[in-house]
Amino acid sequence: MLDKQSPIPMYVQIEDYLKNQILQGDFVIGEAIPSERELTDTFEVSRMTVRQSITNLVNEGLLYREKGRGTYVATPKIEQPLSGLTSFTEDMLSRGMKPSNKLISFEKMIPEIDIMHELQLAKDEEVFVVKRIRYADDKPMAIERSYLPVKLVPNLELNDIEGSLYSFIEKDKRLIISHASQRMEAVLVKREDAEFLQIFMPSAVLLIERISYLTNDVPIEIVRSTYRADRYKFISEIRR
Ligand code: GLP
Repeated sequence: MLDKQSPIPMYVQIEDYLKNQILQGDFVIGEAIPSERELTDTFEVSRMTVRQSITNLVNEGLLYREKGRGTYVATPKIEQPLSGLTSFTEDMLSRGMKPSNKLISFEKMIPEIDIMHELQLAKDEEVFVVKRIRYADDKPMAIERSYLPVKLVPNLELNDIEGSLYSFIEKDKRLIISHASQRMEAVLVKREDAEFLQIFMPSAVLLIERISYLTNDVPIEIVRSTYRADRYKFISEIRR
C-alpha cells in the first residue's frame, strides 16, 4: 500500500490513502476510521506518523476526533458562494436543510462609533442589536450579531426576528435590500462563542461582516457573523 522508497513522506502517503477512502465513500459520514493502533499495524509505521496524517485530515475538516472515543468521518463542509446577496434562511432552504435560530439577546442602544459610522448614523441615533445562533438541521453553524437602525425598523419586536431578518425587512417592512459589502477574516473563536457553536478552544472561525444597503444606498444592517470553519467553505468564481 505504501512505498517506503518514495521521497513522499510516509505520513503524506497515509493521509492520501485515507483521504481517497473517505472520498470514495469507503467510510460513511459519522463512521469511525480504524484506531491509531490498527493503522500503525496495517502500515507498519510509528504511531507518531499515523497521528500526523490524522491530524492533517482533521485540520482539513475531513475527520473529527472525539476525546477517548476515536476518529470519525466528518460531514462535508457547506460550499457557500460569495456572489449572491442571499440570507442564511434562503441558503439553507436551497440546500434542503432546515434553518432555525436561537435568540441570545435583543437590545436597543446607542452603538459604538465604528457601527455608528458604518450605518451612517448621527451621535444619538439608536440601533437594535440582535444576537442569534443560526442552525442548519439543528446543528450550530454561525453566530450573528446584527445592528439595525431603529429609525428604519422602529417597531421591531421579538417575534419579527424569530425567522428570517431579510424576509422581515423585505416582506413586512417593504424595504428593498439591493446590495452589500462584505469583509472576511480568519480569527480564533472567543470563549463564549465556542460554547454557542459547540466547538473546542482554540478553534479557527471565519468572521464575516456584511453591510447591507437599500436601493437608495442607505445602510439597513451590519451583521458580524462568526462561522464555524469546520462547516463552511466559501467559494467564488473569478475571471481573467
Ligand atoms: C446571512 C448574512 C447576514 C444576514 C443574514 C440574514 O447570514 N451573513 O448578513 O443578516 O444572512 O439571514 P436571515 O434572513 O435568515 O435572518
